[in-house]
Amino acid sequence: MAILPIRLFGDPVLRQQTKPVESVGDELCELIVDMVETMHNAEGIGLAAPQVGRQEQLFVVDVSPLLDEIPEDLRGDLPEQPMVLINPEIMWESEEEEEFEEGCLSIPDIREPVVRPESVRLTYQDETMKEHTLTVGGILARVIQHEYDHLEGVLFTDHISSFRRSILKRKLTGISQGKVEATYPVQPCN
Ligand code: NI
Repeated sequence: MAILPIRLFGDPVLRQQTKPVESVGDELCELIVDMVETMHNAEGIGLAAPQVGRQEQLFVVDVSPLLDEIPEDLRGDLPEQPMVLINPEIMWESEEEEEFEEGCLSIPDIREPVVRPESVRLTYQDETMKEHTLTVGGILARVIQHEYDHLEGVLFTDHISSFRRSILKRKLTGISQGKVEATYPVQPCN
């Protein structure tokens, strides 16, 4: 097991398209274990492969630290955490939208409200390549959409207004230059 350095805003790997996973061998199994450990070490609730410099279509999620904030009627549907989502595909999103303040381990110290569909339905495979269909709302839907974006090279700062982005420009440029203090290992791009 190993804690992997997290790539920061400005790193081209965060903007690349990812590739579908065909099978989970020893190496990928180890990556998944490392990603869960890396996420927990950074006190994150989600981590996508590009954030550790990889191009596989996979991310890990663990919303259990936020369980108190999940309405009780949604908790029953909550799959066991942490979750590994491989080759996810969002099939449906609710018309109802919600605003929620997001952050990202690749963009330390910045939090901004982002509007997204309240619920989504998706298919994915777990670490044994078993197929799942999941309809989910609330915080888990939020985290899944944020991580899903990572697999398409999209960051939450792409969803905020250009006005807000211009306010954050100096801070974002600083992060891309490695001028950032994070409580977890990061790998600035050169
Ligand atoms: Ni993120």
